[in-house]
Amino acid sequence: MTTRTAAPVDAAALAEVDAAAFGTHAWSAAAVESELAAHGRIVLVADGTPLKGWASVAVSGDAADLTRLGVRPQARNAEVARSLLEDVAVRAREAGARRILLEVAEDNHPALRLYEDTGFVRIATRRRYYPGGVDALVMERAL
Ligand SMILES: CC(C)(COP(=O)(O)OP(=O)(O)OC[C@H]1O[C@@H](n2cnc3c(N)ncnc32)[C@H](O)[C@@H]1OP(=O)(O)O)[C@@H](O)C(=O)NCCC(=O)NCCS
Repeated sequence: MTTRTAAPVDAAALAEVDAAAFGTHAWSAAAVESELAAHGRIVLVADGTPLKGWASVAVSGDAADLTRLGVRPQARNAEVARSLLEDVAVRAREAGARRILLEVAEDNHPALRLYEDTGFVRIATRRRYYPGGVDALVMERAL
């Protein structure tokens, strides 16, 4: 599985992958473009035709926040997300981060299992953080 840094020209394809991955919770094309342009972001894509998935982290000082991770349903369970996560972690460390943080819905079992398998630990719960009253788990991994 190869990943590469996303370019501005990837914006429309990333929005399409995001829609496939997140459905009604997808980001708008404008939100994806903003993410690509935002300061301190590291955005990677899992290459393929069409793109298989994408991940973005925001690095600030010694902390990196995973802002997005999505894989197209047809490309799931083939370690695409794991590769994206490992590669953004390496890149975040190179950019100075020493820990990576994320928020995940406590009922998102595939994502939770992936994060637990890749060394993230739960450090906090944000009650009723998501629409519908679902809690968010805050997870952290040292880099
Ligand atoms: C969560 C998501 C990114 C996982 O992508 P993926 O490419 O299928 O994940 P991987 O194949 O790299 O799987 C890595 C690990 O995740 C877990 N996993 C993946 N799919 C799973 C599933 N359907 N059920 C349970 N665990 C699953 C497994 O632990 C797997 O490890 P294994 O390969 O040793 O079994 C993908 O399901 C997705 O895009 N979901 C919708 C968007 C989303 O929820 N993003 C995360 C927001 S916090």
